[in-house]
Amino acid sequence: MNILVLGGGGREHAIVTSLAASPHADTIFAAPGNGGTAKLATNVKLDVVDGEAVVAFAREHAVELVVIGPEAPLVAGVADVVRAAGIACFGPGASGARLEGSKSFSKALMYKYDLPTAAYGSFTDKDEAISYLANQGAPIVVKADGLAAGKGVVVATTIEEALEAIEECFAGRFGKAGATVVIEEMLTGPECSMLAFVDGKTMLPMAPSQDHKRAFDGDTGPNTGGMGVYSPVPIVTEDEHATMIDIMERTVRGLCAEGIDYRGCLYGGFMLTPNGPKLLEFNARFGDPETQVVLPRLKNDLVEVMMAVANQMLDTITLEWEDCWAVSVVLASEGYPGDYETGIPIFSIEQAEALEGVTVYHAGTTIDDEGVLVTAGGRVLNVTALGEDFSSARNLAYTAVALIDFEGKFFRSDIGARALRGREAWDV
Ligand code: AMP
Ligand code: GLY
Repeated sequence: MNILVLGGGGREHAIVTSLAASPHADTIFAAPGNGGTAKLATNVKLDVVDGEAVVAFAREHAVELVVIGPEAPLVAGVADVVRAAGIACFGPGASGARLEGSKSFSKALMYKYDLPTAAYGSFTDKDEAISYLANQGAPIVVKADGLAAGKGVVVATTIEEALEAIEECFAGRFGKAGATVVIEEMLTGPECSMLAFVDGKTMLPMAPSQDHKRAFDGDTGPNTGGMGVYSPVPIVTEDEHATMIDIMERTVRGLCAEGIDYRGCLYGGFMLTPNGPKLLEFNARFGDPETQVVLPRLKNDLVEVMMAVANQMLDTITLEWEDCWAVSVVLASEGYPGDYETGIPIFSIEQAEALEGVTVYHAGTTIDDEGVLVTAGGRVLNVTALGEDFSSARNLAYTAVALIDFEGKFFRSDIGARALRGREAWDV
């Protein structure tokens, strides 16, 4: 069958790679795709937040499955339009995507269904927000309600910092996304994500993963989309793992009770607090870069799993995982998450991929007019390595990282280092 994947990051290259390995896949289209998907799929230009345009393309090219990678088309309701046109779609409709598109909506759902999360208040009035802050004190967390590309969250250690964040939100720094402000209790502990396939009834959890959001070594510097990730997560206890699965199951039951037909990937972002795992957030999609360490370990045929999600047949599937560990290091452009140059030639990916167990997923790359692979974004490549134990996967990833070259190559040298030291490494 022909498949259309919306998006053009490392996540989408990983999704396209797994789909392309399926005997069910004929032509795969990626919109817009990147320099990596170009090898496995046909990259196309398409307005991915315009549902009618997506349907028109799908009809014209006999596409039988549409897979939505990023949040913007999900929140825009593209999945609703695709499904209404009778085309199978992996990705929730607008009502389900609100879990990611509105923090106040997702917090209200967590409270309603008794899902453990930080105490919070939600405000559309600045003075009420400030008086809540005065009552709660610092440290405290201030969040813009809507999509803000990961930049709408301030973990404030002082009242002044929190006040400034509230002022900025209401002054329009995040546009409409900041017209409602969520203020919540600060939680502590390691962060851990759980992705799950959901078909509106059944939930199948994937292996846990752990992202590294800060730009620099030692978890310092500004927040990014993610600088590296591993899966599974060695420091998660069996009890914590079971609790996360239970919370995800109860979330899906809550969504059903709300009449929300959620079909796609549900991303639970947890903090493993001293009082057990608590939800930080939901995303309505696969994580990026989490997907780049989760899908390579999945043994199932991804086309079959995604069609089962789209057709509410997930109860017929059992997920199977490779018995190995995955570590992925992001190669970024110097300056990211601030300003950076693009159009810089990238060398020696082939040498890195010649190492057994290494896959290089492209994020911000493109092929220029002369046919040269060049940088095209802040996060450029995700170098993923599989190994039979955590430290060999990690060593292999860094061996591969050293082989790849482009001017301004920038990466964290401590992905997974804390996990190697054990749970005590978070006790600071
Ligand atoms: P979010 O977009 O809600 O996941 O927030 C982005 C990041 O901010 C998270 O990955 C955490 O590192 C941090 N964060 C969010 N909420 C809290 C909280 N309640 N306590 C501590 N850190 C938080
Ligand atoms: N890596 C975090 C996210 O995908 O939201």
